[in-house]
Formats: sequence, C-alpha cells, structure tokens
Amino acid sequence: MDEKIIAMRAKLEEELAAATDLQQLETMRVTYLGKKGCITDLLKDMKSLSPEEKKTFGQDVNLLKNEATEKIAAKTEQLKNEEILREINSMPEFDLSIPVNMDRGSYHPITLVQRECEKVFISMGFNVENYSEIVTDYECFEALNIPKHHPARDMQDTYYLENGQLLKTHTSAAQNAIYKKYKDALVNDGVPIKAIFPGRCFRNESTDACHENTFFQMEGVMVDKDISISNLIYFMKTMLSEVFKKDIKVRLRPGFFPFVEPGFELDISCLICGGEGCPSCKHSGWLELCPCGMIHPEVLRAGGIDPDEYTGFAFGLGLTRLAMMKYGVKDIRDLNSGSLKTLAQFTDDE
Ligand code: PHE
Repeated sequence: MDEKIIAMRAKLEEELAAATDLQQLETMRVTYLGKKGCITDLLKDMKSLSPEEKKTFGQDVNLLKNEATEKIAAKTEQLKNEEILREINSMPEFDLSIPVNMDRGSYHPITLVQRECEKVFISMGFNVENYSEIVTDYECFEALNIPKHHPARDMQDTYYLENGQLLKTHTSAAQNAIYKKYKDALVNDGVPIKAIFPGRCFRNESTDACHENTFFQMEGVMVDKDISISNLIYFMKTMLSEVFKKDIKVRLRPGFFPFVEPGFELDISCLICGGEGCPSCKHSGWLELCPCGMIHPEVLRAGGIDPDEYTGFAFGLGLTRLAMMKYGVKDIRDLNSGSLKTLAQFTDDE
C-alpha cells in the first residue's frame, strides 16, 4: 500500500482518538472528506502511475475514504451519546415516592363553566367543535351578513394581521365553516346540525372592570326543518338551569345582530334575588345574559343551506360573563390576571 495512504490512516486514527468534542470532528470531516480534503487530494498522485498501479491505488484510496467516513460518524455518535448522558446525570433527582403536595393547581373558572355547559349540550345531542382564533374577514363578517363598511363592524374592532386575517371578535366566526361541514349530512341524511363552539375572542377595547380585550364565548347553532324560537328557548332554559343548579326563568327582548332575524337579548331571572328586584339586577329582576336569534337566511345560504327548506337558531353565550355570575367575580380583569391567589379559589363542584 502506498506510504502516503498508510501515513494518512495512522494520522486519522490518532486524531480520532484525541478528539473530544463535536466541533473537532466536524473540522476533521471537512479536512479529510471535503471536496478539497486531503483524501481527494491523494488522487492527484494517480497521474504518474501505471494502469495496474492506478487500479490498486484507487481501491486503497476508496477504502480509506469509506473508513474515514464510518469512523468519524461513529465517533460523532459516541460523543453525542456521552453528551446526553452527561446532561441526564446532571439533572436533579426526584423521588417518586414523595406524596402529592396539597398545592396542586385548579381549573380556571372559565374552564369550569365551559365544561359544564359542554356537558349539558352534549347530553342534548350537540357536537363540540373547535375553531381557530385567527380567521378571515369573510368568516368573521361577510359570511355573517356584515358587509364591508357596515356600522355593526364598529362594535367589533379587533387586531389585524399583516396578511389581512384577524383575531376573531366572536365565536360566530365559525358558523360558516360549521354549516359547510355538516350541510351534506343535513340535506342527504336528514341529520340536524347541532353544534356548540366555545372559543377565545378578541376586541380592541380599553379595559375596565366589565371590559376586556380577550374573553370567551360559546356559540351554539341548531339547523333543521321547522326549527323555531320555542326550540331556542327550550335549549337555553335547560342549559342554564343545569349550570346554575336551579330553575331559571328566561325572557327575550328584541336585539339587533345582522346575522339573525329576528334577533334577541336573552335575560335570565336574577340569581341573587330570584326575580324580586335587588341592586345586582338594578331592581328589574332580570340579568342580561345571551344574545341569540333565528339564523338569517343569507347566513344559511352562505353556508350552503337552502333557507327556504331549513331554519335554525344561534346563540352567543358569554362564557366569561357566565363565570363571573356563577362565581361572583366582580372585576373581569381578575380572570386574565394569572394571579394564583385569585384563581385558586375556584374548584369544580363535583
Ligand atoms: N356574535 C354576537 C356577539 O358577539 C352574539 C350573537 C351570537 C348574537 C349568535 C346572535 C346570535 O356580539
């Protein structure tokens, strides 16, 4: 074997044995195996050799090349594993037998209320849908019968992304996608659309005790043949009575939202005085809780559903508001404060 090859192999072995970090190995890889590396360089010597010699020399160089590739890779692997081991050994040990500490976390009050509402609606045959927080202008407004420059947009200023998408201002932004998802089952198989979709909403709002730029709603829709306002009242009343664990009276007042017709504000009998009248309900006996209405024909049409054949209701329950009522939270900002002292007071009733 050519002397140069023998010497280079010996040097490689020596350097490999001495290498202690990955950077050194990378430098070696480039020096030996790179395009301008010393193994490639050896081939230049071939010119002066006879055809017979060329053959063995070429084979030997290739052999060395393969050997170098394998050995550098193996050493790299070895050093990486050693590094992982060192990291594992430097971690503090923990004792699995230590009893669970009493300071475990608790669920956020909004999570608690959301789960409770979901449970009730699931028991009434509703699907729970998940929807993104970043939506298009079409989903949030246009598909809901709120064209560009409609004054209803004033109430729902939000945060826009550079690509024109926006943080959804209400859970209604998922309606169009839900109709499109379920319309075939409705039309072909007669399966009513029954879905709830809780989610985080955003509005460009200055904050005070009653306003936050980030809050939670839970939208619900039901679409089928002959759905009426009575269906809406029944489902809302049942859900609220379950959540508050007492019989809740509801009433509807007219309310305007471009995506429902007719539209309502749903009030519930005051939880504090039971409807007698007290300071919490401004002596009216009623608390405003949930906007709702019969889905506007244009909104159904945008979702691919024929409004001459099908009708439906939609409601937008303020989960943040519901949590405040249920747990007596006076300042909405406490809910987003991340203060463990505040949040740890709430526990699941069950
Ligand atoms: N999306 C409306 C809002 O946030 C509430 C709503 C939902 C009204 C469904 C009617 C029907 O203001």
